[in-house]
Amino acid sequence: MDKELESIVQQLMESDRKGRALDLPAPERMELLREVEGYTNDFLDSLEERKAYEAAGYDPTEEDRGFDVGEAGSGMDGILDFIGRRVDHTGLNPASGGHLGYIPGGGIPASAMGDYLAAITNRYAGNFYASPGAVRMENSMIQWTGKLVGYPDGFGGNLTSGGSIANLIAIATARSVKRLKGKDLEKNVVYLSEQTHHSLPKALRLTGLGECIIRHIALDSGYRMDPVALRRQVESDLQVNLRPFLLIANAGSTDVGAVDPLGPLAEVAEDHGLWFHVDAAYGGYFLLTNHGKEVLAGIERSDSVVLDPHKGLFLPYGSGILLVKDIRHLLQANSYEANYMQDTKEQTLEYSPAELSPELSKHFRGMRLWLPLKLHGIAPFRACLEEKLWLARYFRHQVKSLGFEVGPEPDLSVVVYRFVPATGDADAFNKKLAHAIQQDGRIFISTTLLNGMFMLRFAVLSFRTHRKEADVLLEQLRALVRNQ
Ligand SMILES: Cc1ncc(COP(=O)(O)O)c(C=O)c1O
Repeated sequence: MDKELESIVQQLMESDRKGRALDLPAPERMELLREVEGYTNDFLDSLEERKAYEAAGYDPTEEDRGFDVGEAGSGMDGILDFIGRRVDHTGLNPASGGHLGYIPGGGIPASAMGDYLAAITNRYAGNFYASPGAVRMENSMIQWTGKLVGYPDGFGGNLTSGGSIANLIAIATARSVKRLKGKDLEKNVVYLSEQTHHSLPKALRLTGLGECIIRHIALDSGYRMDPVALRRQVESDLQVNLRPFLLIANAGSTDVGAVDPLGPLAEVAEDHGLWFHVDAAYGGYFLLTNHGKEVLAGIERSDSVVLDPHKGLFLPYGSGILLVKDIRHLLQANSYEANYMQDTKEQTLEYSPAELSPELSKHFRGMRLWLPLKLHGIAPFRACLEEKLWLARYFRHQVKSLGFEVGPEPDLSVVVYRFVPATGDADAFNKKLAHAIQQDGRIFISTTLLNGMFMLRFAVLSFRTHRKEADVLLEQLRALVRNQ
């Protein structure tokens, strides 16, 4: 061997020896897994005693140096101990059934098992050529959800990391299909409401559509968009030569869970050629229930719709779905050409996620969604959603009997309420109520402003929230308003 080659081989052996630490041999792997499993089991088994919210722990401490990484590794037991103290005991605990704020997340264990399988095998689910099975699994979830929505054949979709990104792709698709040019922006009109989730104005900005004219359409007493006001606004915009372009409706608003009248809104969109996007990130999977089917009727008339399995199917964070009624529109917005991808064009039995979204390399998200549905079947998901609908009605009834003012009958599973004391400022009083409940921590609630009034929210969506959690909150509220 010549000297140069000898040196290269020496270097190779040395780096190989050091790098092999990453490929754990079976006994070590099993031991580490046993430790991780022990930690997660302890976590789940102690959920009843754990708080939904731990106010302490925001300030960085000396101990937070533990977040730093160095050249040398550390033992798993110390790492898990650190995570337990500095991550899993600070702030909000979305795994807790006491999480009744914002739109609660889930975290069914079967989904974590799906993630584990997906990460170990690391199937590349971006392209049919690279992993026909993984892409088929993802496409089957898109097909199942699209049929649930009621889309006819020919729709397409994409599994995203969540509702915000799914909304962003939908808006980019609408822009591409309607062929908006920069010079046209200030003549194009977008219709939405005060109840629209902030990810949509953000998506408009990110896609360059922030320069369009944005119309906030009036709401009815249930915070739903008024279709008569919408039609009037569209017609008056047409009269002054503006171009109605996009209508964004809610199928479960974050604030109050309001579902816009989707059928009548679709009619306006169809009459005037608007792209009709429905944000069903929170409400979409209530379509599994009879009540949801009734309230969400008309959703099938949308051009695009977003649903979040990490909300309505109780998955851990990281799962949204975008559906577009005509798959060609999604293709048009996301298609690409690259020389280094030429081999992938040969097997085109099914569309690939990479052709239908901005992502190329991506997490194999289908597994975390498909595995729980396959393992448990759909029935328990439906039952959990039905329970949430009943819990919202139960809570509204009970909190009203404690003397609280309540908002409209919930369309889905969010109740807004507030206490008006005999004397003093009601907003300040309710702010104090919310603060007291958050400080106690057994239950976490969030608040909002409606027509300028400070409101408390009961948002129930976790699969771990049952009547017991609602009763704990009611008991706390009873005690807090006892002397008012
Ligand atoms: C109605 C609605 N749309 C969109 C989103 C954004 O979804 P994500 O948080 O998954 O990005 C949310 C989140 O709560 C929501 O409630």
